[in-house]
Amino acid sequence: MAKKKGSISTHAFKIQYLKRSRELYRRYLATRPWVGQLYKSFLGLRPGIRVVDVGCGTGDFTRYLAELTPGNFKMIGVDTRAPSLRSAFSETRKAGLASKISFRKGDAYNIPVQNGYADLTCCRTLLMHLTDPLKAVKEMARVTKPGGTVAAVEHGEAQSVFDPDDERYADLAKKLGDAYLKGIRKLEGKDYAIGDRLPTIFRKAGLIELKAEVQADPYLICDARRKPRDVKDELMFYLQSYQETKKLERKAMIAGGATRKQVVILQRKYETKMKDLIGHDEAIPKSTLFYVGGIYLITGRTR
Ligand SMILES: C[S@@+](CC[C@H](N)C(=O)[O-])C[C@H]1O[C@@H](n2cnc3c(N)ncnc32)[C@H](O)[C@@H]1O
Repeated sequence: MAKKKGSISTHAFKIQYLKRSRELYRRYLATRPWVGQLYKSFLGLRPGIRVVDVGCGTGDFTRYLAELTPGNFKMIGVDTRAPSLRSAFSETRKAGLASKISFRKGDAYNIPVQNGYADLTCCRTLLMHLTDPLKAVKEMARVTKPGGTVAAVEHGEAQSVFDPDDERYADLAKKLGDAYLKGIRKLEGKDYAIGDRLPTIFRKAGLIELKAEVQADPYLICDARRKPRDVKDELMFYLQSYQETKKLERKAMIAGGATRKQVVILQRKYETKMKDLIGHDEAIPKSTLFYVGGIYLITGRTR
């Protein structure tokens, strides 16, 4: 299991983190309706579909898919954490989706669903936190009916950062971003950029007709479609999260080959930049700081 005291994964599973980060991400996605179209079409969301969402956490992705699916359907969210499931259930009831979505406590390595139940078995940002993602994908295939779809939505290597005020900072951020990924692989045996490897893992799991898409999430600080208040909330939340995990991140970057000095420079600059943006209301609409993150969508069919 991915749970490990003091790991960055453990932080990402906390209920407060999940609820707030997903609420902020929803506000972000609301400015990009075509992303919903991508999910609907790529995952084949249609009336009558039976879906299992593994590692559902507080159920945000499950509800996102439900809102994109027309007509009647059944979705089951599965997670190991009871508090997350309680939150998932109450949010789902509030959203008026309780008759269509249910939740079960269970493990990705032993999903509490019968063989061949689902038309679509999916997960979002689960496999990156597992030390044996192949085992989980095989298990996802087991609960999917023959000819059904297994889908994973995970971060990959595709990302970029451009800082107009400090290009050296952007270069260091990229370099240390790679060191961070290497460090996490070394220290925790997990791949936080697993997206690139997913087609290989899916093939090993016996899945066929593989397909890939990359959902590019551009974070342009001054993006005119977004409310400066939402951007500020996001920056405040991520600065706070960063403060909670910075020691762990430092350890990972050093394990991945960065020097202590490089990490100190990067972290100091990051904090200063975030505080400058958050502390001056006029700064957000002016800032052309630009980050792009890639979320990989991979599907395969069961035989
Ligand atoms: C980063 S969260 C993603 C939650 C949700 N999929 C989303 O996108 O909002 C990862 C979730 O996987 C769950 N998890 C971790 N290891 C698991 C396992 N072995 N089996 C089932 N769930 C697991 C955690 O409890 C957490 O809720």
